[in-house]
Amino acid sequence: MTKVDVLLGLQWGDEGKGKIVDVLAPKYDVVARFQGGPNAGHTLEFDGIKHVLHQIPSGIFREKTKNIIGNGVVLDPVIFKREIEALKKFNLDIFQNLFISKKATLILPTHRLLDQAYEQAKGEGKIGSTLKGIGPTYQDKIGRTGLRIGDVLSSTFRERFKKLTEAHIKILKDLGLSDPDNWSELESAFFDAVEFLKQFRLVESEYLINHELKSGSTILAEGAQGSLLDIDFGSYPFVTSSNTISAGACTGLGVAPRHIGEVFGIFKAYSTRVGSGPFPTELLNEDGERMRKEGNEFGSTTGRPRRCGWIDIPSLKYSIMINGVTQLFMMKADVLSIFPSIKVCTKYQLADGTLTDMLPYELIHERITPVYEELPGWNVNLKGLDADNLPEALNQYVDFLEKHLQVPITMISTGPDRKQTIFRPVSVV
Ligand code: GDP
Ligand code: IMO
Ligand code: MG
Repeated sequence: MTKVDVLLGLQWGDEGKGKIVDVLAPKYDVVARFQGGPNAGHTLEFDGIKHVLHQIPSGIFREKTKNIIGNGVVLDPVIFKREIEALKKFNLDIFQNLFISKKATLILPTHRLLDQAYEQAKGEGKIGSTLKGIGPTYQDKIGRTGLRIGDVLSSTFRERFKKLTEAHIKILKDLGLSDPDNWSELESAFFDAVEFLKQFRLVESEYLINHELKSGSTILAEGAQGSLLDIDFGSYPFVTSSNTISAGACTGLGVAPRHIGEVFGIFKAYSTRVGSGPFPTELLNEDGERMRKEGNEFGSTTGRPRRCGWIDIPSLKYSIMINGVTQLFMMKADVLSIFPSIKVCTKYQLADGTLTDMLPYELIHERITPVYEELPGWNVNLKGLDADNLPEALNQYVDFLEKHLQVPITMISTGPDRKQTIFRPVSVV
């Protein structure tokens, strides 16, 4: 029996998961998404073309790889249809290579409206949601009122849709909002997309995955969002509504914990966050602006500018602990090439002067001052370099991080393209 390797983000999302899943996909027979939904935006670049995937796993461009949308995902059929149509021109065998769990939860048009209404009602305290309906859909799942992909095959689907959306519209009215004026349009786009969805392989994906494991297939679980956005361990309430951590791959795919293999933790050589919530190392100055510009730090799903800051060791250590990370992949090293020196936050100083490398419970209200160590920058264009000729200062940066994080950094990414990926021999940290 083989194991499922998990690849996930250790920060606040957008670490570069899509790029690396695409790079690793030829080594895997199966790539599976296990949580999240269209709030994700995973970017892949090759042959001069950039693709942004939201719900479709990032193994879709590799013709031998099966792609599974697992039960832990919340799926919007309207966005799904749009995504598939955008891929048409690439002649991929998507009907053959894509499998969707019947147990994944459906995002209805009213979930999106509720997401907007709840955010508006929060005023100053808003989460900065992507407004794709994620929170309200998971609410319905946990509240046992949701509709699932498999339900679209039932003769009572329309009736159940009506009942649930009416309940949602009542909530919207209670919040002081009027009936959605384009409701019939939203409804017909939804049912149109549901018909489209029915052409795909809607399966019991837990059986499929476990069968693949038994027959020796290699499987990569593709995380969405990041560990610091996890519903249990992220900076609550400024989080998403799913378990983004490695344990989420078990519940989101139907894989037993003992069948999890490697856990690849992806992080940027610095930090970013999009949306509200605490961000201890955020740079609200020119350095932050330069990082945003150099790293093209604008959301793949919403286009919003991402907040930028130096790397944060205490939060990375936390994510490594919660996920059981076995290998680290460092992304966007090229972006730091513009800085003459680079700061690393190794500890936090709390309001009472205490130094800690642990995340305080009240990350939100606690006044945290990051304690930095400064390392020399490399100031070198990393294009075309490989593991043997990286600048000394970059190697020093990597050694420094490995020493603190106690997990080997086995890959360094130096640009958005598939080819700009450097694998390092696994070092003993
Ligand atoms: P994901 O959500 O984790 O898949 O990440 P996103 O796709 O939202 O954001 C990562 C962004 O960084 C995308 O625009 C990628 O094309 C880009 N990217 C990935 N790796 C690198 C890298 O090593 N260097 C640079 N400059 N850009 C990268
Ligand atoms: P990928 O997979 C970055 C953030 C939102 C918001 C919070 C809650 O591309 O890394 P939600 O829409 O889930 O209710 O938003 O989480 N967020 C992400 N930030 N990358 C993502 O996905 C994100 N998905 C959600 O900005 O702060
Ligand atoms: Mg993204």
